[in-house]
Amino acid sequence: MEKSTQTIAALLEEERTFSPPEAFAQQAHAKDTKIYEQAARNREAFWAAAANELDWFQRWDRVLEWNPPWAKWFVNGKLNASYNCIDRHLKTWRRNKAALIWEGEPGDERVLTYQDLHREVSKFANVLKKLGVKKGDRVAIYMPMIPELPIATLACARIGAVHSVVFGGFSAEALRDRINDAQAKVLITADGGWRRGQVVPLKKNADEALKNTPSIESVVVVRRVGEAASISLDSQGPRREFWWHDLMRNVSMDCPPEPMDSEDMLFILYTSGTTGKPKGVVHTTGGYLVGVALTHKWVFDIKDEDVFFCTADIGWVTGHSYMVYGPLANGTTTVMFEGVPDYPDKDRFWAIVEKYRATILYTAPTAIRTFMRWGEEYPKRHDLSSLRLLGSVGEPINPEAWIWYHRVIGSERCPIVDTWWQTETGHILITPLPGVSTLKPASANKPFPGIEAEVLDEAGRPVPPGSGAGYLVITKPWPGMLRTLYNDPERYKQAYWSKYPGIYLTGDGCKIDQDGDFWLLGRIDDVLNVSGHRISTMEVESALVDHQAVAEAAAIGKNHEVKGQAVSAFVTLRAGHKPSPELADELKKHVTKKIGAIARPDDIFFTAELPKTRSGKIMRRLLRDIAEGRALGDTTTLADPNVIAQLKSQYESSEG
Ligand code: WT7
Repeated sequence: MEKSTQTIAALLEEERTFSPPEAFAQQAHAKDTKIYEQAARNREAFWAAAANELDWFQRWDRVLEWNPPWAKWFVNGKLNASYNCIDRHLKTWRRNKAALIWEGEPGDERVLTYQDLHREVSKFANVLKKLGVKKGDRVAIYMPMIPELPIATLACARIGAVHSVVFGGFSAEALRDRINDAQAKVLITADGGWRRGQVVPLKKNADEALKNTPSIESVVVVRRVGEAASISLDSQGPRREFWWHDLMRNVSMDCPPEPMDSEDMLFILYTSGTTGKPKGVVHTTGGYLVGVALTHKWVFDIKDEDVFFCTADIGWVTGHSYMVYGPLANGTTTVMFEGVPDYPDKDRFWAIVEKYRATILYTAPTAIRTFMRWGEEYPKRHDLSSLRLLGSVGEPINPEAWIWYHRVIGSERCPIVDTWWQTETGHILITPLPGVSTLKPASANKPFPGIEAEVLDEAGRPVPPGSGAGYLVITKPWPGMLRTLYNDPERYKQAYWSKYPGIYLTGDGCKIDQDGDFWLLGRIDDVLNVSGHRISTMEVESALVDHQAVAEAAAIGKNHEVKGQAVSAFVTLRAGHKPSPELADELKKHVTKKIGAIARPDDIFFTAELPKTRSGKIMRRLLRDIAEGRALGDTTTLADPNVIAQLKSQYESSEG
């Protein structure tokens, strides 16, 4: 970590405040500030009450067992996530309620009621069993945003298999590494997916990955694009390949849900850390489901009439928690969209809101800033009057984007919930409650009831409200917290629990104002946030040095108007290689191939040397200063102070 707490930039003073509209406050689930104190007085009782809203096959003995950093929630409780998301609604009128409204990029549609979902999930769970998948086995999922994706995750949950969803935008190599780390037995994929009218060749990428994934015994392929990809399956190869629709043809729709221990693993989701190797974040069943269900209900004030449109991909945690598990646990209608916001035109999201009368929209600041740039004419083409609440997630939202979202999309009628959380936290931790909170644009408001967060200085002392910035930490365990990193408990301890023993380090900078409101300041470690996606500088650097022309590389995040941050890379070349625009392009392509397009650097800057400390550590902070045109910070620890002056003048002349 290079940035000290003192150097974290203070945020703009934002003075405007927005109280909850009275009509909204009156009908809200959470309408009294007393719930914060009540929850704080007895956190375990608070979370136990939330757990009581789920269906358990066997009640827990104890709410929490906490041996830092190891947590167990709802000890000895038995439940099944798929049962809670589907079966229990079949006993009510929700049986024929739309569970999933899906729209494909080409405009095709599918609506699955809870009853439909029950049938499809049960059948596919039986398919998995036939393929030899047993409780505890890992199943890798590499799919476009089609209904078979949530069906596959819920089918895993039904039989107690652990799903590991790999975002469809990741490369073959990224997929291969994640399959191997989890030792997945089955891969579920599709012949392709649609993106701006083009086919994303998922099966082709998967084939590339499968050359080196000995744990995979069978592959299931959904036919999504058909002729456009013309995939034929290899039934003679080293592993069995099947079409999803063939396997589903003659299979029973009766599959009793496996009673799972509260602490049995539900899924693994890989995310970037501060090294080149992604972390396999482990979530378990009971605590996770309690956490996502309650936060979804209160933060989004969910009612039976709601149509909940979360725009995230299920390849990220937002899709897991707030497109699948949270909404379905609450019996909500959840909208799923395969495509991108600007295809066929820049009004696609608004067309979807209008068509399905979405009442709640949950999206990311980078998307909002993009919409701002495109202009108001696109949302104005549509009737957005069904919306009653807006949400934001993934990165700090700047006041300007907040105000635009509030005015143009919400017609100054809809509260905005700016929700802070992480892959590791499982569910929202810092957020407004829309019927209670006075909103300040760009503040994520307060810790959710039952959550204890603080801002600490380097020495672990709380930074007093209204003073400076520091490290955001969570001081008490919470139900949806990650339990470990898959196959790497040491890294779990080291990454999250070693700076302040017994206290969870988020990796974010933060300050708390006089009113107790939290202002998130972005990552303070070597993790970038590009369009709300986490990328580690180390991953990009390993991808670059993997290229034969590259000797050394340093990747940094550079402020970017739309993406929040963009990747810039400084590269030194091996003898015999010369800098050229062609080589820069080739290196960008190489990063896309190794990781995926989300990690592709915007700029590659060639240099003869990189600034390093005497112990050999690259000083990325100085590179950021150069790239963003700031005065240079402290350079006293540099091994060779001349390097940086040269680099600066070189960079500036290349920019100009
Ligand atoms: C990081 C977690 C949580 C789902 C999406 C990202 C940043 C997330 C906010 C917010 C400021 C935010 C943090 C965090 N972040 N939400 N509302 N305000 N920053 O999940 O990939 O695990 O990334 O995203 O830096 O640490 P993730």
